[in-house]
Amino acid sequence: MKKLLINGGIPLHGEVRASGAKNAVLPIMAAALLTDEPLLVSNVPRLRDVTTMMELLGSMGVALTTDETDNIRIDPGSIHDYRAPYEMVKTMRASILVLGPLLARHGRAEVSLPGGCAIGSRPVNLHIQGLAAMGADIHLEQGYIHAQAKRLKGAHIVLELVTVTGTENLMMAATLAEGATIIENAAREPEVVDLAECLNSMGARIGGAGTDTLVIEGVDRLTGTPYRVLPDRIETATYLVAGAITRGRVKVKETRPDILEAVLLKLEEAGAQVNTGTDWIEVDMQGRRPRAVQVRTAPYPAFPTDMQAQFLALNAVAEGTGTVTETVFENRFMHVQELLRLGAHIQLEGNTAISTGVSELTGAPIMATDLRASASLVLAGLAAKGDTIIDRIYHIDRGYEQIEEKFSGLGARIRRLRD
Ligand code: EPU
Repeated sequence: MKKLLINGGIPLHGEVRASGAKNAVLPIMAAALLTDEPLLVSNVPRLRDVTTMMELLGSMGVALTTDETDNIRIDPGSIHDYRAPYEMVKTMRASILVLGPLLARHGRAEVSLPGGCAIGSRPVNLHIQGLAAMGADIHLEQGYIHAQAKRLKGAHIVLELVTVTGTENLMMAATLAEGATIIENAAREPEVVDLAECLNSMGARIGGAGTDTLVIEGVDRLTGTPYRVLPDRIETATYLVAGAITRGRVKVKETRPDILEAVLLKLEEAGAQVNTGTDWIEVDMQGRRPRAVQVRTAPYPAFPTDMQAQFLALNAVAEGTGTVTETVFENRFMHVQELLRLGAHIQLEGNTAISTGVSELTGAPIMATDLRASASLVLAGLAAKGDTIIDRIYHIDRGYEQIEEKFSGLGARIRRLRD
């Protein structure tokens, strides 16, 4: 079941619920390694990446239980292994998030270096440098990061560039360090804030979450806690773009408009009427064709790199010439070649994709290359006339819960093909 068949060209209408955020639940699951008491995480999305994180924690001896709803109980009491093997890290780079907690709580960790990936080289040097600044003894051997420390010590860390998982790893490590840690140029993403709130609820003393300076007073131990993961802003925005690209009206419920400002502004510029309530967002195109927009990615609160592929699909059918400039990752345009196969007019100039909107895309067989690229192909397929078959759809299952069911609920003709 590795392909999706979409018969596109119909406006989407209706309501859909946002799932819990992938990029918040993964660090929160890793944070369980900082305590020996159970963490009860709710609003957990059913995603391939969550399963991979469960497998990784399970391989270390952590006990995980799920129930019929969206809860996971993570009991790290019986941990006996401190290693994240290459086989897992290569399928999910977020595995690197176990490094800080293992080191802080257990004094040792062996984590495979992630290597390159479809969107760029993505080194983890800043994670390593920050932990070394806290006194960890780290060396690289045979593709693995070997780290040891008796007890980490608070440090003053100035991150060379804004890194989301780097900030999360160092913040988690600092919670159990001796003394205070200051992290400057910290990532301000809502998922970093969510992790900080979870850690504080476990007894950590983190201040400044959501600003670029984090101050973490180390404590001797953390406890278990119940914690509800925040809604997924990227999934939310993907469904809103689906409404816009098909000239329809889509309302996303159980979400957070306050963490999507940069994206909502661009949807308005594209001609959508955007209405919001405390926990919902609605995009209404009133049947009109979208207008092309200029988008430049940068760390939060600017426009997210995880939404540029979807906006490139939107620009592909919009009126006028649009640009998407990627400044976070070096090679995040794998979707361009596939969009061209659907009839889009897009030219790449360095890190900018310039598109001249066409009045109609036409369905074709195409291939997904990474998670957000797949999302843009699904959106393009929904807008395209005729059948689009998207191969290697497992990429999308890493980050979008029940994508066919959710889109079907909005009136899309979409289904998985059996091999
Ligand atoms: N970077 C370094 N050295 C480091 C760390 C990062 O040079 O030690 C560079 C990266 O190569 C990149 C930039 O810094 O050019 C920013 O990367 P960042 O570390 O912020 O990315 P990440 O933490 O690996 C997270 C999300 C990504 C999202 C980015 C940017 C998770 C699990 N992943 O990745 O999500 O694109 O932040 O917002 O939180 C996705 O969900 O599809 C996804 C790729």
